[in-house]
Amino acid sequence: MKRITIAIDGFSSTGKSTVAKELANKLEYVYVDSGAMYRAVTLFAMEHGFITENIFNQNDLIKNLKDIQLEFKFNTLLGFGEMYLNGKNVEKEIRSLEVSKLVSKVAAISEVRKVLVEQQQKMGAKKGVVMDGRDIGTVVFPKAELKLFMNASAEKRARRRFDELTKRGDDVSFDEILKNVEYRDYIDSTRKDSPLYKADDAIEIDNSDLNLEEQFEIILKIVKKRIRES
Ligand code: CDP
Repeated sequence: MKRITIAIDGFSSTGKSTVAKELANKLEYVYVDSGAMYRAVTLFAMEHGFITENIFNQNDLIKNLKDIQLEFKFNTLLGFGEMYLNGKNVEKEIRSLEVSKLVSKVAAISEVRKVLVEQQQKMGAKKGVVMDGRDIGTVVFPKAELKLFMNASAEKRARRRFDELTKRGDDVSFDEILKNVEYRDYIDSTRKDSPLYKADDAIEIDNSDLNLEEQFEIILKIVKKRIRES
């Protein structure tokens, strides 16, 4: 069967990574969570004091980009690659609300995007890849055989993210999560470099009223058809 490139873009917390992981497992493709890479760079900037709630020292971050080494290491128990920043597993830290609050500002820096997009293109060069993010179908793989654009109401998305974070023990309020979801949507879709928008040839999926199984069934049908036609 032909191996294709599947690009999944969409607003924050639309369940892109859940679908992407499931697809990658089913098809035996590589899964790349491009958001994890922006989150890891943000964590690095926070740990070095370049970026905090009150400081935005993007020049220092840019100067130190060469010292950031990112790697996905496959965890067989979890079934996906976990993010390592300079050799350390940072999977838990990068999902915190503190990182979520700063990541969109970091992701708007062109120098950061340039470095990460290059790495993402290398990871997907051999096809057989499912990558999710904000600019995968528009910038990273504009020629991807299949592009999906995921959406859902802000309330639903915030509820899902709230459940995810409280389940793992984070002390967060629903209101601050909702604010963060709306704030990131705004920055991500209005930034100058690679803003989030639906590519003309992307298929839009609104999953506000779909459960995970229903959503996966719909998407798998689309994927199988596209692989047959490619
Ligand atoms: O988990 P969630 O869907 O909320 O976001 P994510 O995929 O982990 O991405 C975190 C942030 O990274 C986004 O809000 C964007 O600011 C940025 N990002 C980006 O600019 N381009 C990408 N390809 C992926 C993420």
